[in-house]
Amino acid sequence: MQRRTFLCTLGVSCLSLCVPQITFAASKALVVYFSKTGEQYGVGVISKGNTAIVAEMIAKKTSADLSEITRVDDTYPKTYQALCDVAKDELTKKVRPKYSMSITDLSGYQTIFIGAPVWWGDWPMVMYSFFEQANLAGKMLIPFCTHEGSGLSEFDKKLAKACPKSRVGQGLAIVGRDAQKHSAKVDTALDGWLKKLAAQGVVF
Ligand SMILES: Cc1cc2nc3c(=O)[nH]c(=O)nc-3n(C[C@H](O)[C@H](O)[C@H](O)COP(=O)(O)O)c2cc1C
Repeated sequence: MQRRTFLCTLGVSCLSLCVPQITFAASKALVVYFSKTGEQYGVGVISKGNTAIVAEMIAKKTSADLSEITRVDDTYPKTYQALCDVAKDELTKKVRPKYSMSITDLSGYQTIFIGAPVWWGDWPMVMYSFFEQANLAGKMLIPFCTHEGSGLSEFDKKLAKACPKSRVGQGLAIVGRDAQKHSAKVDTALDGWLKKLAAQGVVF
């Protein structure tokens, strides 16, 4: 019996017996994301990144904490083409930029949603810094991305390879411009995905 079903069953039987309901609080989830403002493909100059919007929606729907990953000494250009060139160079050289994030103690989180834009068909290199340097062993990691055509780009497989001691859940790809312009569509996609993860017992 899945844990969720078990909890529901337990809740119903407790209620019918008029005994105070026992709940087993699952540990709080965390949503970690990297995202860029400035000029982005298909959306012009944006003040909140596409992935940031999706990350906030996930955190709200799951009552998770939220933590943005930023690059220390962020020298990324604010224009799209220049950013593409820098990102390509980082990918080619497999650089591991220094990162920072507001929540550094991850020990209390068993489930971590991890999101980023697809950059050249891959996670931005700063995300690999996080995968390799944060202690993610034993945790359930659930990838998501925003993109403009490439889809999930094997973010799940790449994450599993970078974090061999973690479990990796089913990922989700959202079209970047939908985050800016079609929030109802994103909302529906997130609900469907979270429902599937819940059915798999991954999130509650
Ligand atoms: C450097 C760079 C590389 C990109 N490479 C891809 C790509 O390979 N495939 C794709 O579908 N979109 C690509 N995009 C588009 C972004 O994934 C998309 O605009 C994303 O939603 C941006 O998210 P953000 O606003 O959170 O940074 C690229 C964008 C940038 C800036």
